[in-house]
Amino acid sequence: MQILHISAECYPVAKVGGLADVVGALPAYQNTIGHEAKVIMPFHKTAFVERASTKVVYCHDLVIYGKTYFSEILQLVDQELGFPVFMVRINQLTDRKNVYGYDDDPFRFLAFQRVVLQWVLEQEVLPDIVHCHDHHTGLIPFMMYYCFDFERLKEIPSVLSIHNAQYQGQFPHEMGGAFPRFRESDIGLLDWDGMINPLAAGIKCAWRVNTVSPSYMEEMKQKANGLEGLLAHEHAKCIGILNGIDTHTWNPETDTYLTKNYTIGNRVTGRRSNKKELCDEFGLDASKPLFGFIGRLVWEKGADILPDILIQALHQFDINIILLGSGFKEIEDRLKELAVRYPGRYNNHIGYEERMSHQVYAGADFLLMPSRVEPCGLNQMYALRYGCMPIVRATGGLKDTVIDIKDGGFGIRHEDVTVAQVVYSIGRAVAQYENQKQFKEIQKTMMHLDHSWDHSAGTYIKLYKELKE
Ligand code: ADP
Ligand code: GLC
Repeated sequence: MQILHISAECYPVAKVGGLADVVGALPAYQNTIGHEAKVIMPFHKTAFVERASTKVVYCHDLVIYGKTYFSEILQLVDQELGFPVFMVRINQLTDRKNVYGYDDDPFRFLAFQRVVLQWVLEQEVLPDIVHCHDHHTGLIPFMMYYCFDFERLKEIPSVLSIHNAQYQGQFPHEMGGAFPRFRESDIGLLDWDGMINPLAAGIKCAWRVNTVSPSYMEEMKQKANGLEGLLAHEHAKCIGILNGIDTHTWNPETDTYLTKNYTIGNRVTGRRSNKKELCDEFGLDASKPLFGFIGRLVWEKGADILPDILIQALHQFDINIILLGSGFKEIEDRLKELAVRYPGRYNNHIGYEERMSHQVYAGADFLLMPSRVEPCGLNQMYALRYGCMPIVRATGGLKDTVIDIKDGGFGIRHEDVTVAQVVYSIGRAVAQYENQKQFKEIQKTMMHLDHSWDHSAGTYIKLYKELKE
């Protein structure tokens, strides 16, 4: 089957969060089971892209509001990613350093989606499935079925994966003129709450919609940032499919970012070396239990309560904490202040650092994830694979992947996002750490768990096949 994944991010080409990891792994797994999956994304001027070799495979003059934007599609060459990657470069629009965060993002992503469809339209062999990821590609299903220019694509089934419904990409109807022509009476398909809403349009027009974990699908029917009613209405075509992880990239046995590679057999000594290196680098004490946090410093991740959690936990327990993340400036500033106030006990790197993230999974004893919203969450699955015990709020994908020790599992769960509940969970973790014999056994159980894409890659194929029948 020919599968075209369309996404704003793809690891290692451009990554902001888990979306990149998923789009950088799922197609490769689909290809190993005999399919032909490829990825098309905007051209971002990342360090990876600047180093990479590319060739131009397509050119198109995109006209919007009478203005011509020269666009071209570049294919990555000499890469061993397990799937072909195409990048859409549109003069003045996509050739930028960051993936998101520009005032004209709605316009940029609309232009991107138009060029993608124009390119697909001009292919001799059409894809069997178009797989869109998040709101940046949510207008594709609408345009394929309702814009006159793309009539030829009408029969191709489309799937929309919702990685995060907090972000929907809304923009005012005044920008409607930037679309290719469609029947005026179809405008309602683009609208949600008086705005053009790409995520809502994707949910309405895609043939199937999935969230990245079953629990998140259920939760969204109750709470989905305004889309609850729509999801309840469209429930018949919605399904939750748990993400997998790329067990080749995320493998403590071969991970080149680690000080010392390790297997399940020598995890104790291997993890000890990684912890020591990490603690030395950040002025921490490797003999104490080490708690880590990795992620975007935003409300959904519970990052706003992290400073208070850290202060209370450091007062109550003899532990060390390490944090890697970036996001809201106020949260970043408070965290930096704490690093000054608690030297030798708490430290952080405010920023994005792929290497360090691997070292934290391999060196920290516990990983905190007090998320308010977590559609799937990959961090807890990486942590498990590296033998680092996750402490999670029981929500979304965290609920689907972490079983509490008291229920015979391998992690620590709390129900609510409160300072008290997280600090209580840290206390439970400290008690667990003191029983080293049992702790090491649980590490073994964690590392044996299989969260690879082997299973879910097949589930997506089954779903595509149903659509082709
Ligand atoms: P989300 O996509 O919501 O941010 P996920 O858990 O799905 O959350 O994925 C986050 C991914 O981003 C993981 O690969 C994690 O290791 C990585 N990550 C997050 N913040 C950072 C950071 N500051 N530096 C390096 N990697 C990070
Ligand atoms: C989103 C979600 C995260 C999920 C990731 C990959 O960024 O916030 O929970 O793991 O997408 O699907």
